[in-house]
Amino acid sequence: MSLRNQLIGLVSVAAICFGPADAAEISIVTGSVGDDLGQLQAQLKEFEKKSGHTVRVVTTPPSSSEQFTQFRLWMAAGSPDIDVYQIDVVWAPQLAQHFVDLSPHVPDAASQHFDAIIRSQTVDGKLIALPMFADAPALYYRRDLLEKHGEKVPATWEELGAVASRIVEAERAAGDRRLWGFVFQGAAYEGLTCNALEWIASHGGGEFVEEDGSISVFNEHAIKALETAHSWIGTIAPEGVLSYQEEESRGVWQTGNAVFMRNWPYAYALSNRDDSIVKGKFAVTTLPAGEGGRSAATLGGWNLGVSRYSRHQDAAIELVEFLTSEQAQKQRALLSSRLPTRPALYDDPDIASRQPIIPQWKAVLENAVPRPSAVVKAKYNEFSSQVWTAVHNTLAGKGTAADNLELLEVQLTRLQGGSSW
Ligand code: GLC
Repeated sequence: MSLRNQLIGLVSVAAICFGPADAAEISIVTGSVGDDLGQLQAQLKEFEKKSGHTVRVVTTPPSSSEQFTQFRLWMAAGSPDIDVYQIDVVWAPQLAQHFVDLSPHVPDAASQHFDAIIRSQTVDGKLIALPMFADAPALYYRRDLLEKHGEKVPATWEELGAVASRIVEAERAAGDRRLWGFVFQGAAYEGLTCNALEWIASHGGGEFVEEDGSISVFNEHAIKALETAHSWIGTIAPEGVLSYQEEESRGVWQTGNAVFMRNWPYAYALSNRDDSIVKGKFAVTTLPAGEGGRSAATLGGWNLGVSRYSRHQDAAIELVEFLTSEQAQKQRALLSSRLPTRPALYDDPDIASRQPIIPQWKAVLENAVPRPSAVVKAKYNEFSSQVWTAVHNTLAGKGTAADNLELLEVQLTRLQGGSSW
């Protein structure tokens, strides 16, 4: 063996044994639903191979609200244990001070991702997180059951209620005692704030707090929206929906026990897998409109930020760039029907043929309604918990929609505590 080859051999042995000089051990914290975690782990393996770094995954409960509580504790303590946080699109203004500004590292982010998402993650000129995937919900429906019963896809909430009741009644009479009409996220957490925003905005009842900071929640359209939702409980929706998050709804739906489901696009790929009873029997459409209103979908999504307290910021930034890259987003779209945040991927032919919901959902995403986190800023968590409590009480029959919304208005005014948020 020549001296040159011997030297090359020695250098590669050293690299395998000791890793590259700057190899770091970093951690990422994530909550997940469906197969998000499996997907992430596969991508992390690729990253480790490519970068020489090692990555530890810390998991949290799937509820965005529970994650927020935990993240805030770690961050307030300046904990260096977590390098990368996967954060909900609504948390940026509240957590901004704890994150590294990513804009110098990815100066072209705004031209690669949907501009609105980058703006939502930019606080006082600091880009605090890069988008991993976006979310905008769909109405999933059992095409087979609608066809069998000669029903049309509902365009309004009222039609949804009527179609669901008729199908459930007929199917139950024929012996399917487990079938329900509609499942959604009715537990008292962030997901209920999203569902309620859709009911209220689609009835023309506003968005709780408007862009100019005014509190709009107590109005006749919002009351009508919540009265309609309350009428579903125990009729077309099981009582248990009051404790459902995303995965509980998907459980009922995917075992063939619901005619309609409100859920995010991740449920599309899972519902079409071989182990799904509804495989090939369903389709998706936009959420129904309220009386005299329009369809409204909440803007959701998750982003990756690097902690200011991380001792391995360069490696953490490398990881964030890797997981938000075009290649990673394409994989996530193909396998898990997660919506890309890069407009270019909506024209990708592989994605269109494997997950047709994605090109179909570009317009829904572009028109999605944001929660007022940029308006209420540091008070978002309290704002949202007051909203979901008022809505949950209404669904559970604790007080009327009108009484609960009137009280919510008083509480939000107190929370605002002055003329501006
Ligand atoms: C989804 C959305 C997120 C939202 C959450 C509510 O994960 O992406 O934005 O807060 O659902 O459950």
